[in-house]
Amino acid sequence: MNERLWSFSGGDHGQWRVTSVTAITGASLAMASQLDIINGAPIRPFVWSLQGVTSNERYVQQDEKQKLVAVQQGLGRASSTQAALIPIRKNAAWWAFTQDERRDILEAKSRHIEIGLRYLPPIARRLHHCRDLATAQPYDFLTWFEFAPEHATAFDDLLGALRSTPEWAYVERETELRLQRN
Ligand code: HEM
Repeated sequence: MNERLWSFSGGDHGQWRVTSVTAITGASLAMASQLDIINGAPIRPFVWSLQGVTSNERYVQQDEKQKLVAVQQGLGRASSTQAALIPIRKNAAWWAFTQDERRDILEAKSRHIEIGLRYLPPIARRLHHCRDLATAQPYDFLTWFEFAPEHATAFDDLLGALRSTPEWAYVERETELRLQRN
């Protein structure tokens, strides 16, 4: 089994109750009452299932990495009873850029990492990549966030800040699921 593979499956069972599904850009996902997250391929029935793998970082530089490692906290904190799954697909223009052009948009122009750092440690996160899987996936990234209810407003602010950056001009599909731990 690929230990880096994670499946996020919408259906009638799971660790998280889906409270909303919102199409931010492009086609949405069908409403499902529960979200099941498993390390590996799904084994139980589902309405839809998205797969992604954790991977090495592409853009983070040494100084940023040190700042992230110093403050970030892991998933699964007892206080993190709320979560968001935000699958994202970027357009062909983004993927046609070279690595240094993408870094320039993501950080020099959009300050994605600098903005994100302001929301740590309350927001815990994990990024999954979908493009290199053998089976075609509807999104390029599955972004996952966990936080306590008192930080839900800060999370909304973070979304607003990131979505107004130049980086987001390259997002062609984005769906936002909000969840409550069962
Ligand atoms: C990538 C930090 C919030 C979506 C990254 C990377 C970092 C980062 C360091 C680059 C990883 C690499 O080097 O490959 C943060 C921090 C956040 C945050 C500290 C604060 C909680 C968000 C949110 C979203 C998001 C709220 C979605 C709405 C993404 C996506 C990528 C990414 C899609 C991959 C970009 C690409 O490779 O083209 N984030 N982020 N991030 N983040 Fe965030």
